[in-house]
Amino acid sequence: MASQDYRFSERVYSQFDKLETYITDNLLPHDAALEATLKANAAANLDAIDVAPNEGKFLYLLAKLNKSKNILEVGTLGGYSAIWFAKAVGPSGKVTTLEIEPFHAEIARKNIEAAGFKDVVDVKVGPALDTLKAISEQTTKPVFDFVFIDADKVNNLPYFKYALQFSRAGTAIVVDNVARRGRLVGSDAEDAVGTRALFEWIRSEEESGRRRVESTALQTVGSKGWDGFLMATVVA
Ligand code: SAH
Ligand code: DHB
Ligand code: MG
Repeated sequence: MASQDYRFSERVYSQFDKLETYITDNLLPHDAALEATLKANAAANLDAIDVAPNEGKFLYLLAKLNKSKNILEVGTLGGYSAIWFAKAVGPSGKVTTLEIEPFHAEIARKNIEAAGFKDVVDVKVGPALDTLKAISEQTTKPVFDFVFIDADKVNNLPYFKYALQFSRAGTAIVVDNVARRGRLVGSDAEDAVGTRALFEWIRSEEESGRRRVESTALQTVGSKGWDGFLMATVVA
């Protein structure tokens, strides 16, 4: 069953890359801070599993469309997507990003500072479930306008439930990597099981009349292969 994991031919991948480069070259102006972040991440040997540049811009646009001022991210890595969110919220906004690996957090903090967003982005180190629990126990629970879930996929459902706890009507929630080269359907890999738990929970809420979100998912191709985003807006 775990074989539902598709690899395309090199020819197809190189065409995905070519179109992504075309998109990026035409629609994304050069951005020294974002480019330096990807370089620093590579120099530190971090896996290149940040969102692709055109996806970072997509998330930034969603956050701006939503007039987001306070964003929560689960899964920081080197801070690449966090810097996109910092650009979206502007200097008076706030991005809180959660990371389990102290080394990733250290690289991220350096990148964020070099990008000029030290006062906008707060990197919190520790297992995200612990940090989220601690946040939920604060005397005043925060309200986030946008939540981006991009960490260990087995916990996608608990992360999504925390996102709902910290939401208002109109909060946007985006979950990365839901397609995973086709593993969403027909694979018993841990990430696929975790992500299906989320999809099926949303469905069961809908069916039992407890609809909290309106949602969809999109499949993507590009330099990160075949993957996808789930996106939701909180209804109430
Ligand atoms: N959002 C980033 C990429 C994140 S990659 C970007 O697009 O730039 C996923 C990150 O989640 C990794 O850095 C990994 O260490 C972190 N992670 C994995 N499990 C975690 C957990 N339980 N709690 C917090 N972070 C976790
Ligand atoms: C992985 C994690 C990600 O967040 C991603 O975008 C791509 C890959 C991974 O753990 O392999
Ligand atoms: Mg991801």
